[in-house]
Amino acid sequence: MSPEDLKALVRTVPDFPARGIQFRDITTLIAHGQGLAATMDHLVAYASKADVAAIAGIEARGFIFGAAIAARMGLGFIPLRKAGKLPVPSIGIDYDLEYGKARIELDPGAVDEGGRVLLVDDLLATGGTAKAGAALLRQAGAVVDHALFVIDLPELGGGNLLRENGIEVSALMQFA
Ligand code: PRP
Ligand code: ADE
Repeated sequence: MSPEDLKALVRTVPDFPARGIQFRDITTLIAHGQGLAATMDHLVAYASKADVAAIAGIEARGFIFGAAIAARMGLGFIPLRKAGKLPVPSIGIDYDLEYGKARIELDPGAVDEGGRVLLVDDLLATGGTAKAGAALLRQAGAVVDHALFVIDLPELGGGNLLRENGIEVSALMQFA
């Protein structure tokens, strides 16, 4: 299936989680067996070009794609967790979302000093989440210069924000 076919499997829910937000919902994409398999094939093809030693994913939707890419490539997976979930001393960053605020945390012991890491998430909107994820990984010693998404919402400016922070951005599809 082409990225255009896969785009047709993403459901758009108006006014969720707040009025005015067009929520691009991957539930319908990942429920489709062939759609999920083709999505993973495309993501692994992008990830294979990035020359990385590990994959990092952002809770929760970034775990679905990030861990599957890592397993397919035989690489380790680094979870960037939402606040208060890690059982060991961690580092964290607060950030703004398209529709609120959040915090992610990382066990720095999960990162190899100087290791190249690909940051993966389902969707890029303002870029606040991915920028925070990259900053945490870098704080822990990783080299982060690529990020990979299923969906990009270019009008929200996340791609530009990441590029300004030295991160090349790839995405399977865009929604205007
Ligand atoms: C969504 C999405 C990205 C982030 C993108 O996650 O999965 O992580 O928002 O937005 P941004 O580019 O404006 O930062 P959300 O925080 O809703 O969490 P979830 O994955 O747990 O649903
Ligand atoms: N995360 C941030 N903005 C989003 C949107 N419009 N749809 C789905 N997830 C999102």
